[in-house]
Amino acid sequence: MDLFESYKSYTFARDLMDSGLYPYFNALETAQDTEVVINGQSTIMLGSNNYLGLTNDPRTKAAAIKAVEQFGTGCSGSRFLNGTLTLHQELEKELAEFFGKDAAMTFSTGYQSNLGIIQALSNRHTVIFMDNENHASLFDATRLAFAKNVSKFEHNNMEDLEERLVRAGEDTPKLIVTDGVFSMSGDIAKLPELVALKKKYNARLMVDDAHGVGMLGKNGSGTASHFGLTDEVDVIMTTFSKSLASLGGCMAANEDVIHYAMHNSRPFIFSASIPPANAAAALEALRIMKREPERVTNLMNIANYMRKQLLEANIPIVEGETAVIPIYTYEAERTLIIAKRLLENGVYVNPVLPPAVPDGMCLLRTSYTATHTRDQIDRAVATIKKVFSEN
Ligand SMILES: Cc1ncc(COP(=O)(O)O)c(C=O)c1O
Repeated sequence: MDLFESYKSYTFARDLMDSGLYPYFNALETAQDTEVVINGQSTIMLGSNNYLGLTNDPRTKAAAIKAVEQFGTGCSGSRFLNGTLTLHQELEKELAEFFGKDAAMTFSTGYQSNLGIIQALSNRHTVIFMDNENHASLFDATRLAFAKNVSKFEHNNMEDLEERLVRAGEDTPKLIVTDGVFSMSGDIAKLPELVALKKKYNARLMVDDAHGVGMLGKNGSGTASHFGLTDEVDVIMTTFSKSLASLGGCMAANEDVIHYAMHNSRPFIFSASIPPANAAAALEALRIMKREPERVTNLMNIANYMRKQLLEANIPIVEGETAVIPIYTYEAERTLIIAKRLLENGVYVNPVLPPAVPDGMCLLRTSYTATHTRDQIDRAVATIKKVFSEN
């Protein structure tokens, strides 16, 4: 049988297209910002991860342009060999300081960071304990690590994790992996409890803070800082594609861990390094974060304002305290209809369908930006109210 024959039975996306409810690949005609143009129409963006509003900031753009002029458009190789720029080293030094760790290393995307970190730090004998709502890249990473034992614990359920830690046995090397702020629900990891368990069972702890950075902690330095547990979290990972307004990712940890990973991480060694424009934009965004901590405050104020407006309008939301506010729409078809109507009425949100959520628990994931105005939020709430009342 021809391999490609089997793809013909995949009709999910085409069926959605035929029904007019296909929600994916909507192209922006303008920069990623609080208001964008989609299908020629001005649209309030409630679906981006540009939490601090720096992707279209003149200073991050100028830094990227300057880096292209100085270093060119690409690195033409891995950090390991010809692809290291002084710019990468400067960025890594400032990231390490920002996260309160000895050292940091950068990867070309956030996805690749997770592959690279987990592959380097674990082996066949390691048991990797994963919150079952962790990001997909973390699960993919366990495959690259050839980890025979991946133990998925119930989301934020510390009893379940503890039972699994006990079962793994004392002599087994253990790595606990959690998102800092969970991407779909916006929940915060129970870091104090995770730290207590890691100590009790002699495990190591990695936090993927793709969403926590820019939202929580000193100057937005993330979940570990938020709980005052920077020294207890062994590995902090983040991406540059959200608050840091670019593309790339990093890990921050003790010097010996970074030294080992720099010489043993396949996604780091066998892939080209971050292009100059992206490295420079991330570095500039990091510096702006440190200089303008009010951005983090503005982000949380806007999210809290939105949460209050949605509750007052009786829109069913997942309660929380971060800048990710999911709205329950439950059934898949209704979710797609509402997402489409919202877009037609000038509000972009991300529909979340199974398998990302259980059947019957579909969501519209909304997320906020420090530079959203109250007026934009009020207009978005009015539209959400109208569309929900009709559907
Ligand atoms: C929690 C989490 N980790 C990792 C990633 C991957 O980052 P990137 O998209 O920058 O590759 C994402 C992005 O969606 C994420 O939400």
